Amino acid sequence: GWKMENVMEEEIKVINSTVAPEDHVICALSGGVDSTVAATLVYKAIGDRLHCIFVDNGLLRYKERERVMETFERDLHLPVTCVDATEQFLSKLKGVVDPEVKRKIIGKEFICIFDAFAHELEQKLGRKPVYLVQGTLYPDVIESCPPPGSGRTHSHTIKSHHNVGGLPKDMKLKLIEPLKLLFKDEVRQLGKILNVPQGFLKRHPFPGPGLAVRVLGDVTTDNALEILRQVDEIFIQSIKDARLYDEIWQAFAVFLPIRSVGVQGDQRTHSHVVSLRAVTSQDGMTAEWYNFKHEFLDDVSRKICNSVRGVNRVTYDITSKPPSTIEWE
Ligand code: XMP
Repeated sequence: GWKMENVMEEEIKVINSTVAPEDHVICALSGGVDSTVAATLVYKAIGDRLHCIFVDNGLLRYKERERVMETFERDLHLPVTCVDATEQFLSKLKGVVDPEVKRKIIGKEFICIFDAFAHELEQKLGRKPVYLVQGTLYPDVIESCPPPGSGRTHSHTIKSHHNVGGLPKDMKLKLIEPLKLLFKDEVRQLGKILNVPQGFLKRHPFPGPGLAVRVLGDVTTDNALEILRQVDEIFIQSIKDARLYDEIWQAFAVFLPIRSVGVQGDQRTHSHVVSLRAVTSQDGMTAEWYNFKHEFLDDVSRKICNSVRGVNRVTYDITSKPPSTIEWE
């Protein structure tokens, strides 16, 4: 049968017969479920010949770096190098407002850092890393090559660098994709067997370009990232407190590139506007805006304006996908 314990044992065998005893393997951890489960599985198979990197690009959520590093190190004992590249990313993004250009810059910086990591490892180990772990799932594979009948086979065309968005050109790494026959819910089951904490496995998806696609326009203006982190944290914490987190596909805040007039205390303010968004979805391809109780929205709005300096207006996005996308950029 398709039991997860068997799948795990099978995958470990495959990894061990693929990776030679002297070979080293690298993995970029995003903080998401797929890359974490993939890395944990490979670590179980080959141990310290796995080398992971986690990049803080300055576009992460409130305390996200600390939270995911704690899971990697304390719960999973993964060998992870954490790189703080905040300055590197933000200096390149300064003044950039076009959403596609922002995405391209982020992708390119990521490759630079990954490249440097691979070369450092080569210096340290005296040999090039040979394999790269990716958390590609079966739905990503189907997109490239529809399956004959219902049987899941190993042969497929790899959708190039789906997760990393490009690879160091001269490294010539071979791919290990241990999740490529699994669906998301199966990855969560596998993660559970591998002792990935339940709370981590249930985390909402988070886009690779991070908060850059949630600060509309220049991400470096007016403390936008810090404001967004605070607003987002209040929203998410309120959703958890109301026990709604697991029925929502994604929830987040967006920082708008405008100011509006308000009155706080007896002062006229001219401050920032944020929008909250929450959607339900099966796969992210289509989505419906989430119909919170008005009391919930009222409570969140008050909390945000009372505790986040620089915000005097909160709106709620009531658009589904289509016609909108889930993210605003
Ligand atoms: P959209 O905004 O296109 O998003 O409706 C659909 C799903 O994909 C996520 N998303 C991304 N994930 N890199 C990612 O890893 C990206 O560049 C990216 N853009 C959007 C989005 O959060 C949603 O879950």
